[in-house]
Formats: sequence, structure tokens, C-alpha cells
Amino acid sequence: MPRITFIARDATALEVDAPDGWTLLQIARADAIDIEGACEGNMACATCHLVVEGPWYDRLPAPSDDEEGMLDLAYGLTATSRLGCQITLTADLDGLVVRLPENGENF
Ligand code: FES
Repeated sequence: MPRITFIARDATALEVDAPDGWTLLQIARADAIDIEGACEGNMACATCHLVVEGPWYDRLPAPSDDEEGMLDLAYGLTATSRLGCQITLTADLDGLVVRLPENGENF
């Protein structure tokens, strides 16, 4: 089972086991990470915004046009921002590190 790390807004790192086939939003919720996901993964809210750390961004499948459009509405947007509901975990993402964005309140 892949292991990934969430970094909270206070810089606390939480390493979790994450089932293949789950999205980062599902994993975050299962591990009580402070992420909203208001639209339940329907790409209509951007409240599942996560920032991908280090070299991991380039190892993820590219975001769709719809995801990029929704990210434009996210607070604290960075060059490596993604929607947590759009990233599905696979074995080759073992070690992935993501952090919660600054200015955490999405809408
Ligand atoms: S949960 Fe709404 S866009 Fe991801």
C-alpha cells in the first residue's frame, strides 16, 4: 500500500497508508486532514485544493482543462496546485508529499 504525506498548515507532517485507487480527497478525509471537498469530487468547488511538493508534480498525470479552470478559483494557488479529488493514487505515487494551501479557507 503506498504511503503518502500530508503537510498541514502548521507544517505538521502526517504520513499515511493510502489505498490504491482512492483519490487524495478520499484519503485526506479518511485520515482527518482538514480539507473540505464541498462538491464531493465533481470539480465544482476547488475546496479540495492541495499543493504538490517537490518533484512530485511532474510525476502526476496532467490536469484536465476543467481542473485547471477550477483551480483558477482556488485561494493560495501555486504553480504546483492540484485538486485533491482529481488525483487517484497508484503504486508509483508511493512517497508522494502534498500540503494544504496557504489561506486555507476556500469557498
Ligand atoms: S471536491 Fe470539489 S473540486 Fe474537488
